[in-house]
Amino acid sequence: FPQMAERTGSVKQQLANLVKSSIQATFPGLSDVKPQVAVSAKFGDYQCNNAMGLWSRIKGSGTEFKNPNSVGQGLARNLPQSEIIESTSVAGPGFVNINLSNDWISKRIKDMLVDGIQTWAPILLVKRAVVDFSSPNIAKEMHVGNLRSTIIGDTLARMFEFSAVDVLRRNHVGDWGTQFGMLIEYLFEQFPNWEDVGNQAIGDLQEFYKASKKRFDDDASFKERAQRAVVKLQGGEVKHRAAWKKICEISRSEFDLVYKRLNVHLEEKGESFYNPYIPDTMKELTDKGLIEESEGARVIFLEGFNIPLIVVKKDGGYNYASTDLAALKYRLQVEQAEWIIYITDVGQQQHFDMVFSAARKAGWLPQPEEKKFPRVSHVGFGLVLGSDGKRFRTRSSEVVRLVELLDEAKARSKDELIQRLKKNGTISDWTDGELEQTAEAVGYGAVKYADLKNNRLTNYVFSFDQMLKNQGNTAVYLEYAHARICSIVRRSNRDIDTIKKTGTITLNYPDERALAFHLIQFAEVVEEACNNLLSNVLCEYLYNLSEMFNQFYTNCRVIDSPEETSRLLLCEATATVMRKCFELLGINPVFKL
Ligand code: ARG
Repeated sequence: FPQMAERTGSVKQQLANLVKSSIQATFPGLSDVKPQVAVSAKFGDYQCNNAMGLWSRIKGSGTEFKNPNSVGQGLARNLPQSEIIESTSVAGPGFVNINLSNDWISKRIKDMLVDGIQTWAPILLVKRAVVDFSSPNIAKEMHVGNLRSTIIGDTLARMFEFSAVDVLRRNHVGDWGTQFGMLIEYLFEQFPNWEDVGNQAIGDLQEFYKASKKRFDDDASFKERAQRAVVKLQGGEVKHRAAWKKICEISRSEFDLVYKRLNVHLEEKGESFYNPYIPDTMKELTDKGLIEESEGARVIFLEGFNIPLIVVKKDGGYNYASTDLAALKYRLQVEQAEWIIYITDVGQQQHFDMVFSAARKAGWLPQPEEKKFPRVSHVGFGLVLGSDGKRFRTRSSEVVRLVELLDEAKARSKDELIQRLKKNGTISDWTDGELEQTAEAVGYGAVKYADLKNNRLTNYVFSFDQMLKNQGNTAVYLEYAHARICSIVRRSNRDIDTIKKTGTITLNYPDERALAFHLIQFAEVVEEACNNLLSNVLCEYLYNLSEMFNQFYTNCRVIDSPEETSRLLLCEATATVMRKCFELLGINPVFKL
């Protein structure tokens, strides 16, 4: 087998290692100090900001250093010899400006073209992560919130997977609870031969849910039967289990339509999966003295919250919190996850804060300030709003409507594509299959990108008109930019695979240098997106990359210029990085537009 090229770590990480050595050499007693390196806004490419902090630790100790500036001088002097750094300078209170070597930047890009973009994957500390996302509730609507969770969770999972983290993609579906008594009883009543009828016959589960709820509320004897059904289901009665399974299956096949459209993979471990683990979990928490009796319920009192976390309801039943506690214990102890990430709307923040706090109290997790693994994070997101500024609703709020929403995105992008190709007179170059595929990539990509580019905590307005614009920060614009670069490479009539190996990159013009410098920041952007669980950082990077490419392409002729080979390599590297960004965002790239 050919040797897989190793990951090198981000540029920032490599510089941080050099700075770390310099701190050790300059201040042997202060080996705990973390290197601080950031892209520089003004002077140089990167900047090391350790001098002031170091100064405050050493001043007055009879040190040879006179002020922060001289600390900076010391750090710059003691940086190990490295092909990465061209020069350094020290400014003001000891900022060390670091300029990267053009030769090294060129080489880094060329190595990536030859060895593959996975060599630019960041090296993260975490080895295994659970990403708990999508997680709709059986028989209830799969709402836009679940769609957001699906899109955001998939991107985070993709970024971790790219970074060689073992990701357990968990669909924590709401498939357990008292509402199933009502659903099962309704199924028995309305479909006496339910075992033989196809899923289709039972049909729309939201309607089914609504109708059974109405029956539950209106008819006391039905209500009583429903309550008995819950007990039987929980007691493992065969018929009730089978009915429950059937209802879950119907829901699942509806959810799968959405996952298929979005090309999202999930492994379902729903609430029911953790149910058998709850009693032991409760016993442990009781033994540890965490659980108390309060107004007939069993609860955990937690510091900093004005309500307790209810873990056993008055009627003796378990709830959302007891399930999450059992799931957390399972993920930590059985699955050995080091980082568990939950993606839901911000409305569930308090629930997760309380569950995490209880887990710390139980000793399952270190305190957050210890900054140790295992870690848990709740990734909250804001609302999706309609153009009226109110909570976004599809025309009806049923599962299938999410599919229809995606269909509409595709149909609109197809219309626009056809119109444009007709105008250009190039429609005859396109097969039906190509039109379909492109419309789908652009349409679904637009929906995903419109969501991912925002800081997830803010609410955003869902607007087809906005997301399908071919100008500005949209997936459509980015798809165009990428396709255009591919066409430049094609039109050169050069064999790109050959020049990847034989050509060299030169960076003699400012726009070439700026583009190349942006390209090599890819790894640290993914690193930051993973560490802070923010997808918009990657979107911003991608958008800036295409803007920088435009700048380069406006000022630097590619085809038939003396620098043709080098510039084609920059084009190819840009397209490669853009494609990886698309992939991480769950968007299919198109090569022709
Ligand atoms: N089913 C829940 C909902 O739709 C989301 C579950 C999130 N995950 C969890 N482990 N609680 O709101």
